[in-house]
Amino acid sequence: METAIMLLAIFFLLVLIAGMLLFAATAFLDLVGYLVADVPFIPIPRYVVEKVVALAPKKDGVFYDLGSGEGRMVTAVARAYPRMRAIGIEKAPLPVLLTRFSSKKRPPNAKFLFKDFNNVNLSDASFVYMYLLTKVSYRLEPKLTAELKPGTRLVSCDFPLKVRQPDQTIPLSRGNNKHTLYVYDF
Ligand SMILES: C[S@@+](CC[C@H](N)C(=O)[O-])C[C@H]1O[C@@H](n2cnc3c(N)ncnc32)[C@H](O)[C@@H]1O
Repeated sequence: METAIMLLAIFFLLVLIAGMLLFAATAFLDLVGYLVADVPFIPIPRYVVEKVVALAPKKDGVFYDLGSGEGRMVTAVARAYPRMRAIGIEKAPLPVLLTRFSSKKRPPNAKFLFKDFNNVNLSDASFVYMYLLTKVSYRLEPKLTAELKPGTRLVSCDFPLKVRQPDQTIPLSRGNNKHTLYVYDF
């Protein structure tokens, strides 16, 4: 009886240690991500994903999520529009790892580039989404203005561009959770 209790205690201790190590590793990767990417990895809630998907200007073409996190927006767009090429660009270690782990469940028109979006030419885009921070959106605006062709739609979640004025501003909420989509038609 005593041995059984002892074994159970050791088992729970090991589970606790494993949990703590996992938590520490995740926090470390998150911190590294913030340092390398300037923006923390915060996945957008599903109700916002649905709204962004519905804002696609057409059912084909090329979609980019600039800083795609663990890939939820890319997967949703690819599922909704099988004729669209949906591409996520992400460079922080934790979301890259999560994207790789869940890759089997993705439709074939979803693809990921594990690199800095500043080094990816966006001129083939028809639909672009980003959820970054004010300073990063501001820094990105000249690149977007130079590369996005007429007819491309950009949706920026919560952080508008500095110079260009949005064609639509869409406030969204679910309970206490609030977001705003800024839509730009280039
Ligand atoms: C707030 S999260 C948004 C994640 C996802 N787009 C979503 O809406 O759920 C921003 C993501 O952008 C990534 N990121 C920031 N700067 C980047 C860069 N220059 N190149 C690639 N990814 C970047 C961060 O690592 C982070 O995962």
